[in-house]
Amino acid sequence: MLEKLRVKDEIRIEMVCLGNICRSPMAAAVLHNKVQEMVNPKVIVSSSGTSNYHIGEGAHKLSVRTWENAGYKYDHSAKQFSKRSFAEQDLILCMDLSNRALVLTAAESDEDRAKVFLLRQFDSALKDIDPVSRQGEELVVPDPWGMESDAFEEVLAMIERATDGLLKQLAK
Ligand code: 4NP
Repeated sequence: MLEKLRVKDEIRIEMVCLGNICRSPMAAAVLHNKVQEMVNPKVIVSSSGTSNYHIGEGAHKLSVRTWENAGYKYDHSAKQFSKRSFAEQDLILCMDLSNRALVLTAAESDEDRAKVFLLRQFDSALKDIDPVSRQGEELVVPDPWGMESDAFEEVLAMIERATDGLLKQLAK
């Protein structure tokens, strides 16, 4: 899926969820830490939410606790997804089908649309699932908002597998 990106020296990746306080900051935290040693390509990670509910807030405390317990360090301030991201980013990786649909609504060209994926499409074990088929639901990172820490742990496990698969695909 990422053949064209492998020739770039710098790849910009934006993680997208609804509130930008639980899932996408965790995905950004994990990927940001995993790419620290990478120079070719250099990977620059950010995140946003499709809603304006939490603009300017830090990440959810259970999200922060989960990624810090796993050894990742990351500062976050929530922002809303903007269609400027189509010009600024190489990949826009959505957590669920509704985030993906909203992001695609803002796309203006095939080039824009080609940047949009579900993050879990990069999980090597799930690579054969078509996101627009009925099985697409299996590629979702479920919303842990309002849930206990085990839901955040499950989100972390999904993010770990998907970001490992993503980095394998970006490796030259
Ligand atoms: P996130 O979780 O999309 O993973 O950041 C949510 C956070 C807040 C809300 C919904 C989901 N909310 O409705 O405020």
